[in-house]
Amino acid sequence: MKVNKNFENIGLSATLEINEKSNKLISEGKTIYKFGLGQSPFPVPEIVVKELINKSKEKDYLEVIGLKKLREVVAKYHSEKNNYKYLPENIIVGPGTKELLFQLQFILNYDLILPIPSWVSYGPQAKLLNKKIYYIKSSAEENWNINPLLLDECCANNPLAKLLIINSPNNPSGTRFNNYKKIGEVAKKYKLIVVSDEIYNELNYDGSYESITNYYPEGTIVSSGLSKWCGAGGWRIGTMSFPNELKNIFDAFRVMASETFTSVSAPIQYAAIKAYSENHDKYLLNSRKILKFISEFIYEEFSNVGIKCQKAQGGFYMLCDFSETKISKFNDSRTLCKTILEKTGFAMLPGTDFGFNENELITRIAFVDFDGEKALNFLESNVLDSKSLNKIFPNIDNGVRKLTNFIENFS
Ligand SMILES: Cc1ncc(COP(=O)(O)O)c(C=O)c1O
Repeated sequence: MKVNKNFENIGLSATLEINEKSNKLISEGKTIYKFGLGQSPFPVPEIVVKELINKSKEKDYLEVIGLKKLREVVAKYHSEKNNYKYLPENIIVGPGTKELLFQLQFILNYDLILPIPSWVSYGPQAKLLNKKIYYIKSSAEENWNINPLLLDECCANNPLAKLLIINSPNNPSGTRFNNYKKIGEVAKKYKLIVVSDEIYNELNYDGSYESITNYYPEGTIVSSGLSKWCGAGGWRIGTMSFPNELKNIFDAFRVMASETFTSVSAPIQYAAIKAYSENHDKYLLNSRKILKFISEFIYEEFSNVGIKCQKAQGGFYMLCDFSETKISKFNDSRTLCKTILEKTGFAMLPGTDFGFNENELITRIAFVDFDGEKALNFLESNVLDSKSLNKIFPNIDNGVRKLTNFIENFS
């Protein structure tokens, strides 16, 4: 059987693979601390779940680009957050942003510019479509921000590289971009199409919402959805918001969607209206508090054994550099992750999945192995402190200690 050659060298998506591997080890009776897959630990807000139950009899195919009422609330939401007037007729609702990102890459006849590090799937999606990828390497010293000079150089040298995907707060680094103005200037100069992946933007620990749309809305497509801030990854719903200037791309998208996924599940779309139109301030405030608390605990513990990481500013990830620890003798990050998983049960992903070289001893952790509902309930009448750590986040606490003990006692 002949399989498209673009599949050569592309395996199962790294995050899903580590999750399946961790589950297998758990089913064999091993204790595994799941710092691999980045899934929200929090429950979907009650009011949204109730609406899903109420609408469970909705069974019809819906409009290809999404329910009108849903597109209206999404347009209102992004118009407020992104400081630009989005029209309901320029919003598309799809079965998760991963699918929408793939379709967008299919539609756009451009090569891709990607920062290193980047989320695991942008690159493989481009490779499946036989696109060229131009990488712009960022550094820990720059808090993993894109360097605008390198972006400018890349655009000047590669006239077909016109699609740039950025993501902040960032998966894998947990840091935020602080130079949108400069990136926006370069993007404008080269008329780039920017996809701003804002799926974690509601999880900035200080509650702010930032976007490149403040500087370059006319060339930016905002990608977002309910998977992260609303805990609804398995519901499979995401959105893309287009400026009117990119209407032609939107029109192609409508055709593409009509020939592929038809429309997103009807009950989910009805429930999503509630997600976008109700007030979730307390839920979000407490989710952020919990994530910040855990990230600070890990940062301290890891720093104490020489793991270099940058403080997370949003979302639920961190990059960890083991090159100055006692286990720096490992040759590559994949072997390091494999050995640590076998010896300690701590599952994480090698930096190679995010664009780093094999010999850079960098890994990514997702700190979500806890019961989010229990943590939110606890916060109703308690404060988070070191005493509550093991009670509310046992796998985070035990996993981190296992790993740091392993490093300290390594010889
Ligand atoms: C940066 C980033 N973008 C997009 C996605 C995909 O989200 P979904 O397809 O659930 O909307 C993820 C999920 O892990 C992500 O981390």
